[in-house]
Order: sequence, then structure tokens, then C-alpha cells
Amino acid sequence: MLHTKLEASLITLAYFLVITIEFNMSNKNHKVIVITGCSSGIGLETAVLLAKVKDYKWKELKHISEWNSPPLRPLPLPLPIIIIIIIIIIIIIIIIIIIIIIIIIIIIIIIIIIIIIIIIIIIIIIVIATMRNLKERQVLEKAAKSNLNGPLVIKELDISKEDSIIKFVKGTIEKEGRIDVLINNAAVGQFGKFEDVSLEQMQNLFQTNFFGTVRITQEVIRKMKEQRSGKVIFVSSLAGVQPFMFCEFYVATKFALEGLVGCLAPLMRAFNIRRPMLFTRTPLLLVEVEGRMSITSLEPGPVKTEIGTNMIKNKQGSFSIEDETYDEETKSLLGNVFKNTEAEMQSEIQTGEEVAEVIKKCVQDDKPDIRVATSEFVKAKGEAILVDYSGNAIADTMEALLK
Ligand SMILES: NC(=O)c1ccc[n+]([C@@H]2O[C@H](COP(=O)([O-])OP(=O)(O)OC[C@H]3O[C@@H](n4cnc5c(N)ncnc54)[C@H](OP(=O)(O)O)[C@@H]3O)[C@@H](O)[C@H]2O)c1
Repeated sequence: MLHTKLEASLITLAYFLVITIEFNMSNKNHKVIVITGCSSGIGLETAVLLAKVKDYKWKELKHISEWNSPPLRPLPLPLPIIIIIIIIIIIIIIIIIIIIIIIIIIIIIIIIIIIIIIIIIIIIIIVIATMRNLKERQVLEKAAKSNLNGPLVIKELDISKEDSIIKFVKGTIEKEGRIDVLINNAAVGQFGKFEDVSLEQMQNLFQTNFFGTVRITQEVIRKMKEQRSGKVIFVSSLAGVQPFMFCEFYVATKFALEGLVGCLAPLMRAFNIRRPMLFTRTPLLLVEVEGRMSITSLEPGPVKTEIGTNMIKNKQGSFSIEDETYDEETKSLLGNVFKNTEAEMQSEIQTGEEVAEVIKKCVQDDKPDIRVATSEFVKAKGEAILVDYSGNAIADTMEALLK
């Protein structure tokens, strides 16, 4: 029964194909319309109307079926061969569809593998930029542009306040789970006549530049030791190696940090962990790849920033020679210092961006040096001081500036 129906359907399909092909072939350039009963009435009108149509288009194949069915004619090919051809065509179509599906699946798998590799290789970096007064965030927000609240988030932190440090570190570890790099940049400048600097000014200065910097480092290092990896970069100064007159207390804060770095750096190395790299498990190829702890003191020379303005804001003196607290003798000595350092200051001053590039290198460097100069100028100055154990050479240089 099913077989008979299938045969009938196939015969109809075959006739349909043959008729269509024949019809289209035989009527390639002209169409023939036959109308009966045209002497009057509809037949007439129809004949007249259709004759006006110059380019009659046989759009719909259904016209064929509306005609009286043409007499069944013998097929041009034997039925089994037609069936085999149709089956072969269907099989070819199915194979093509399967191949297309397989290709699409392979492409999707490749895309998924590439995405997984990218996710594994690309480390998403979250930069938490902190500031003690969030009302000052506009400049950073403007500079961060589209990175804001993506890779860069802004949080409140005053390193001179214990509760602020604890709240920040706790909150960050709770949210992010880890801290990999701490860049101790916050500091206040100081400038003035040595004996006129009050104890309160000294304490405030040390509270931020030394105690605050140390306290946040202690809290973060606690986590880094647990992680067995981490990097602390102290933005120190050439003033952490080279003494400079009229900013004795600022220099002292930086010298204090340099001493701390010197002690901490070798100790932290004990917390490095050695882990064999994937695919290199033969004893000869064991490579240490993870878990490095490093401490770096970054030393810029003069940098064009807001440090002078902020120094006044923080009541830590000013670079102005006209400061009313200076006596005439001090003014004169200070004037000489400014005059003697002006050319060097102008030629060697760096921009914040240039210093940031050096910090970036330290962050990316697997094993940064303990002491890093931000320019060749700073390096040369520092090297000259560090080879002179007596301290006389730098004292002579400084003395010459006063004249
Ligand atoms: N500029 C130079 O010539 C020079 C040279 C060598 C080294 N450095 C060092 O470079 C670092 C950056 O200084 P800079 O030149 O960029 O000076 P800056 O423009 O004055 O920047 C100092 C930053 O520290 C912040 N800060 C001060 N006290 C803080 C506290 N208690 N808690 C949190 N943030 C505090 C300031 O915030 P506020 O706006 O709230 O005050 C300011 O954002 C400092 O460590 C400095 O010693 C500077």
C-alpha cells in the first residue's frame, strides 16, 4: 500500500518535472493561448484583451494544473533509473548538508578553544586607584575615560589613618581575594628652614611618608605571604639616596624607606615558591615560574607634578623664596641653590607619564631590581653617592650649590 502510494507520488513528481521542463523548453520564445467561444461576449473580450498584452509572462506554474491534464506520455527514462537518480540527488544533498554541519561544528569548536586560550592567557588586570578625598576624583575619571569602572576603579584610602588602611585592605581582600602589586606612591613634600619646622609638621610628614606607607605595606604583605607572591614598589626618590638641603625631613622620610626596603627585600625572597612549569617536568627543565615576592624602591629625580602646591596645602612649607619665615641669610643661600640647580632641573625634569612608564616596567618585570632609577640622570647621581663611603663627595657638591 505504502509502496503503491510512494510509486504514484514518484510518478507524479517525475511527470511534473518532465512536463515542466518540456513546457519551458517548447515555449521558450512565444506563448500560445487558446480561447474557445470568442465570437461574442466574454470569449471575444478576452481574446481582444489578451491580444493587447505584448509580453505576457507565465508567472505561475499552477496554470498548467488548471488546464486539462495532458495525457500521460511514456517517460523519457525508465522509472527505476529516475528513482535512482532522485535518490542519488537526495543522498548528495544530505551529504552536503552533513558536511556543512560538520564544518560549522568544527568552526564553533575552534572559536570556543580560541576564546578559552585568550581567557587563560590574558590576565584581567584590575587597577584600584585610591585617594584620600573622593571629591578630587574628577581629574582621574576624565583621564581614565572608558577604562573607568572597568579595569580601573576608584576607592577611598588615607594612608595616614589606621582605620582607613584596615578598612581598605580588608574590603579589597574580601572583594578581590588578593592583592598582587602595591605601589606606595602617596607622600607629602616638605621645604623650609630646618630649625623652624615644627614637631607637628615633622610628625604629619612622617605619618604619611613613612608610618602610613609602612602600615599599609604591613597589611598587604600579610596577604602576599599567604599568597606566596606579590610585589611592593615604594615610590621613593633620588632624595632617598642623595641628601638635599632645605627639605631635610622629606629626605629623612625617604632615607627611612630606603633602609626599610633594604631589610625587607631579601627577607621576602624566602617566601618565593618554586613551581615546575607545565610540560617541562623532566628534572633538567624545572623552571621557577610563579610565586615571586619582590620589593623595589623606585627613585625619580625632579618630576613635574602637584607636589609644590600640595606641600602648601599640607602646611609643609613652600618652594617660594619669598616665604616670610625666611631670614635674609637663608633667603640668600636658598637663592643660590635655586640659581645653581635651575639649568639641571629644567633639563632633567621628567613628566609623570615618564615615571609611570618605569613603574609599569617594574610591575611587568618578573624580577625587578631592588633599587630602580627613573632616568639616567638619577642613576648617575645615585651611583656617585653610593661609591663614596665617606659622604664627603656629596657634601662638597651640596656645599658648592650654596655659593
Ligand atoms: N615630584 C617630584 O619631583 C618627585 C620626585 C621624586 C619622588 N617623588 C615622589 O613621587 C610620589 C608622588 O608624588 P607627586 O610628585 O606625584 O606629588 P603629588 O602630585 O603631590 O601627589 C601626591 C599624592 O599623594 C597623595 N597623598 C598625600 N597624603 C596622602 C595620604 N595621607 N593618604 C593618601 N594619599 C595621600 C596626594 O593626595 P591629596 O591630593 O589628597 O593631597 C597626592 O595624590 C611621592 O612619593 C613623592 O615623594 C616626587
